[in-house]
Amino acid sequence: MPAENSDIPRIGLGTYGLTGAEGRAALSSAINLGYRHLDTAQTYGTEENVGEAVARSGLDRADFFVTTKVTASNLGRLAESVDDSLETMQLDYADLVLIHWPAPHDDPPVSAYIGALARVQDEGKTRLIGVSNFTRRHIDEAVAEIGEGRLATNQFEQHVFLQNRVLAAHCRERGIAVTAYMPLAGGRLGDDSVIGAVASKHGATASQVALAYLLALDSIVIPKSASPERQRTNLAAGDLVLDGADMGRLAGLERGQRYINPAWGPDWY
Ligand SMILES: NC(=O)c1ccc[n+]([C@@H]2O[C@H](COP(=O)([O-])OP(=O)(O)OC[C@H]3O[C@@H](n4cnc5c(N)ncnc54)[C@H](OP(=O)(O)O)[C@@H]3O)[C@@H](O)[C@H]2O)c1
Repeated sequence: MPAENSDIPRIGLGTYGLTGAEGRAALSSAINLGYRHLDTAQTYGTEENVGEAVARSGLDRADFFVTTKVTASNLGRLAESVDDSLETMQLDYADLVLIHWPAPHDDPPVSAYIGALARVQDEGKTRLIGVSNFTRRHIDEAVAEIGEGRLATNQFEQHVFLQNRVLAAHCRERGIAVTAYMPLAGGRLGDDSVIGAVASKHGATASQVALAYLLALDSIVIPKSASPERQRTNLAAGDLVLDGADMGRLAGLERGQRYINPAWGPDWY
């Protein structure tokens, strides 16, 4: 039962949008291809599909790494909402439960709810706990409240166009792994010539290069795809090794391009 952030599979399947029958088919194909890390959230409408896919797989529950996220409106009933998620997924425990976003306008502050997340872990309802969309300040508030070594990861937007280096370093210095969401820039890698050149050099796809870059920075990646072929190539990005010159060129693509930026979100800095 005890787990460390090194237990998190480095490539997972993002499930945002994988609802209904199409989502069920996508989850089955991903599991058949070898994905074991599945990323859902209370707000995605995919918890049920994820739980069903695990049950239908014929594999042991322990073979999977299932993440869900507590939505802001549930911060006042955090433990009950995790029970609801487990019920929806028909699982006895989650592998990782995240706070999806810090509360809008810090109302309530991190100190008011992060302890409840730690208690959910103490009660064995999840092997690991973490946060998502936390800034450096939110991370520090959480660590001050529950201590170092409790948070396994901070999941935030990270891709070649938004590399978030300062936040990533802040997390790593505190032993908190980085999980990159939207690692394919939401499918907007387009015809970028630098990515294209690195891809041709290695006989790889643009998406594989984008994922391999983040993996080389020691991030965990959770690309979403409904297509079995793209799921397969995304998973194979784990075998692509970039050299120093590639890494330098890809580092140069940073342009502060943030795609997920709700009005009620934190002040990024
Ligand atoms: N914590 C948070 O607040 C937060 C926010 C956003 C996302 N997330 C998580 O992160 C996951 C990934 O983010 P995301 O889904 O927004 O974006 P993403 O994974 O960067 O990109 C997904 C898009 O790229 C396309 N795609 C996937 N593989 C491809 C490939 N090999 N070649 C070309 N296109 C490809 C997908 O289309 P097809 O499906 O047609 O392949 C889809 O349109 C989410 O599913 C969710 O689990 C978390």
